[in-house]
Amino acid sequence: GHIPVRLHVNGQAHDLSLDPRVTLLDCLREHLGLTGTKKGCDQGACGACTVLADGERINSCLTPAVQCDGMEIVTIEAMANDELGTRVQDAFLAHDGLQCGYCTSGQICSVVGMLAEHRAGRPSAVTEDLTGAAPLTDVEIRERMAGNLCRCGAYNGIVAAIREVTR
Ligand code: FES
Repeated sequence: GHIPVRLHVNGQAHDLSLDPRVTLLDCLREHLGLTGTKKGCDQGACGACTVLADGERINSCLTPAVQCDGMEIVTIEAMANDELGTRVQDAFLAHDGLQCGYCTSGQICSVVGMLAEHRAGRPSAVTEDLTGAAPLTDVEIRERMAGNLCRCGAYNGIVAAIREVTR
């Protein structure tokens, strides 16, 4: 049977009735028409489907939509109205942080979530810094963004864009 669920997406509440097997990714794309979030692998390996759930970046292809009941979901569609999101998007354009663009919405959402993690002082695998005060090194940017693959290999531009935003 279907389960009632209330999703807050980009500041708007949606009351839905969903099969518990529907992923957040399919819910966003097929039920809400928000196709900015992309489906790459559909198995949690590529990061193309990254969105924010209560500020944390998640792979929406791995997350049942019903599990997001009451959560604040933010997708790429909201980034144009967000100061940091706009800065990240502009930096990706300025530094050619994309080629085909399929991974880009996931990359942008991931950067916004990653910067929040960094500022909250959550360590990465390569830093001992717990204050969030130290600027991110390129190695740390790559490590913190390791969940977002780019099949075109635009990593140098992606790192350059993130470096600019965190400067
Ligand atoms: Fe979700 Fe690849 S589509 S991680």
